[in-house]
Amino acid sequence: MRQIKDDIFEVGAIDWDRRLFDELIPLPDGTSYNAYLIKGSEKVALIDTVDPSKVNVLFDNLQTAGAGKIDYVICNHAEQDHSGSIGFVLEKHPCAKVVTNEKCKQMLMSLLKIEEQKFITIEDGQELSLGNKTLRFIFTPWVHWPETMSTYLVEDKILFPCDFFGSHLAASELYVKNKELVIEGAKRYYAEIMMPFRGQIKSNLEKIKDLDIGIIAPSHGPLYDEPEFIINAYKQWTSDDVVNKVIVAYVSMHGSTKKMVEHLTETLMEKGVGVLQFNLVNADIGKLAIELVDSAGVVIASPTVLTGAHPAAVYAAFLFNALRPKTKYLAVIGSFGWSGRMLEQLKSLLPNTKAELLAPVIIKGDPAGEDYKKLDELAETIKIKHREYKII
Ligand code: FEO
Repeated sequence: MRQIKDDIFEVGAIDWDRRLFDELIPLPDGTSYNAYLIKGSEKVALIDTVDPSKVNVLFDNLQTAGAGKIDYVICNHAEQDHSGSIGFVLEKHPCAKVVTNEKCKQMLMSLLKIEEQKFITIEDGQELSLGNKTLRFIFTPWVHWPETMSTYLVEDKILFPCDFFGSHLAASELYVKNKELVIEGAKRYYAEIMMPFRGQIKSNLEKIKDLDIGIIAPSHGPLYDEPEFIINAYKQWTSDDVVNKVIVAYVSMHGSTKKMVEHLTETLMEKGVGVLQFNLVNADIGKLAIELVDSAGVVIASPTVLTGAHPAAVYAAFLFNALRPKTKYLAVIGSFGWSGRMLEQLKSLLPNTKAELLAPVIIKGDPAGEDYKKLDELAETIKIKHREYKII
């Protein structure tokens, strides 16, 4: 339990050991499930809960904070790492009401089987008085589900945005201390779940811009006592700007594709283009997602397996399509033995992308003279693009 101000406490749990989220997303630095207790002069509110695996930590912290009777459980987001302990809280506090929006209510009824009479449904901008403290609910959808909202504690100028601005980071400090570490965790989190909704997140940033915010208290990672630090980072990530960087995501079976990747990388570097190689066989997919947030371009490099792309390259194309980065261009390079439909297959996996598809370089066998010339042409095209974007 950590006190933020008089009658305001962080009562969630740090999960030092968790290494995978949704059985999909790597968590190299663990995470936390932050929950907040607000003790008003007349009513007591709990903002979000914790992953059900940590419910005992929540109850211990509530006791230490002297929570007493809880009147309201505010649910900013229905995903179970925040909502999953609501049922346990309701068992202990049978008179408590769950306060949330209509969409979230429907999800909680479906996911957690909470009965409808347990809810108070609120509208965008509505306020709820706790006596000397006021909670205002601000709908901030698609960070990263459609029902997500933020809660603003008016008198204390604290914004509780749940996943929005959060970082998967287990840290003992209440507020951000190591900015470099937090920004990597926050960028990773943005990249993995929020990047597909970049336009909506821009709208949400616009929506909160006139709020007087002293503290941002997300539901993962440390709190921000300098809110501009994370707001400005989000503005940059959601902008249309890219940086001088091309991601070369590759897999090679017998070395031909690797030779192409090495040649392209060296040629791009000679031309002043920044390159990041990811061997898809053992790459940290979260790290790849982080770099997709602002890279100018992506090259997928693959050999041919059973007439199509290597499954690792298929996975990369699938992720690229799902995450919808603001990448300006995409190219496919690779090698085949006797025939192949790698290019057509990868293109079919990318219906969402608005990136320009550059001329591919698909060669037969091991690369030789003419093949390297084609790679040189691709590198030159990329350099010209980066000059056009004014990033080199
Ligand atoms: Fe932290 Fe979308 O849950």
